[in-house]
Amino acid sequence: MTAVDARLHPTTELTFPAGFRWGTATAAYQIEGAAGEDGRTPSIWDTFSRTPGKVRNGDTGDIAADHYHRLREDVALMRDLGVTDYRFSVSWPRVQPTGRGPGEQKGLDFYRRLTDELREAGIRPVATLYHWDLPQELEDAGGWPHRDTAERFAEYAALVAGALGDRVAMWTTLNEPWCAAFLGYASGVHAPGRTDPVAALRAAHHLNLAHGRAVRVLRAALPASAEISLTLNLHAVRALSDSEADRDAARRIDALGNRVFLDPVFHGRLPADLVEDTAALTDWSFVRDGDLEVAATPIDSLGINYYSPTVVAAGTSASPSPWPGADRHVRFVPAPGPRTAMDWPVDAQGLYELLTRLRDELPEVPLVITENGAAYDDYADPSGDVHDPERVAYLHAHLAAVHRALADGVDVRGYFLWSLLDNFEWAYGYGKRFGIVHVDFASQRRTPKDSARWYADVIARGGLPQ
Ligand code: NOJ
Repeated sequence: MTAVDARLHPTTELTFPAGFRWGTATAAYQIEGAAGEDGRTPSIWDTFSRTPGKVRNGDTGDIAADHYHRLREDVALMRDLGVTDYRFSVSWPRVQPTGRGPGEQKGLDFYRRLTDELREAGIRPVATLYHWDLPQELEDAGGWPHRDTAERFAEYAALVAGALGDRVAMWTTLNEPWCAAFLGYASGVHAPGRTDPVAALRAAHHLNLAHGRAVRVLRAALPASAEISLTLNLHAVRALSDSEADRDAARRIDALGNRVFLDPVFHGRLPADLVEDTAALTDWSFVRDGDLEVAATPIDSLGINYYSPTVVAAGTSASPSPWPGADRHVRFVPAPGPRTAMDWPVDAQGLYELLTRLRDELPEVPLVITENGAAYDDYADPSGDVHDPERVAYLHAHLAAVHRALADGVDVRGYFLWSLLDNFEWAYGYGKRFGIVHVDFASQRRTPKDSARWYADVIARGGLPQ
């Protein structure tokens, strides 16, 4: 740039490294619909969403964004955005309806069509095997607190690898096992809605085991170029004050929110303080010899989902809580500042803190932001446009935080924006809109929001304008 140009454009662009992956993300139950089609059986989320009082407004994923019937349109939207990668999840009950045994060809064919379409559009398919839709039959047999579910998951991973192994570039075993274990089995705000703290701890362990077993299966079945990963929603935990009691509260949440997965997966051990904190609940004898070694099977990258930080102090939390053994020691404190429609604080510094911490504490492993984004109360104005300046500001701030982490030596390989489409936001139903593409759920009309155009521009220039 010449000196004159520099005066005309006094701010610097934040350029990301060549090859940085720019993606969008979704999950099967949140967008596909077609809940009863082509042999799919109910998952725990079909059951949960049909249980009165569990999901706002009685919403279900029966139709969702009807993506099952609109995959070409949705891939075309992504091609227009210029994304390099697309992260979707495979619906277990669609491809293996009973959770064991043979696959359902029609279900597998859907993902073959989706991945074909993506590859034709020049978009790398990134598949998540488990984004919370456990076949109901497996929950009826005991669910994640039951060890056999980990074996079933390994079998399912083999089935999907056999069908899609030649076309999926990056594989994620589990999405946010913290939510699956602790929201599903301790606080019960997610499917299957159980409120049993010991069951949640068992579930967390069996999810770690399932992950490790699946990594081994995938490694054996997939081409050497396949990238195998795990996605965690790590908690950027801050103590409210420097007092010993507040710092102890943060340690407890770090153990139950982060190290319960990070320690087995990266060090083959359970956090000693977690075992101590939960001693009144369990002796952890469900962890068998060799399990932690399986959980620690090496992976190629770690996916991070980040939305907002967690501030804690000494105190107590309402019951049932998702924090077994910590609820009588910890109180959650609303972080200051602006909030999204989820009432989650907007705080990009939390992402920077998390990334630099992982750089310092984990053995060398590339990181990928597999989710980041925000819900706002978007609507189409009379001319049909959807203006979402708050989302653009949120995304800009968080990508700037990623850039700062990169400049500080954190090995971040890509960023997947949550979400491509407005979709079924779990217990909140369709009331919370995370998409950069607006979906009118009555007509299924898609309208790219201003943030979609902004993201396309970021991708095209390979970075952020300032
Ligand atoms: C993380 C989950 O993976 C995704 O399914 C959810 O919609 C977003 N967070 C927003 O809550």
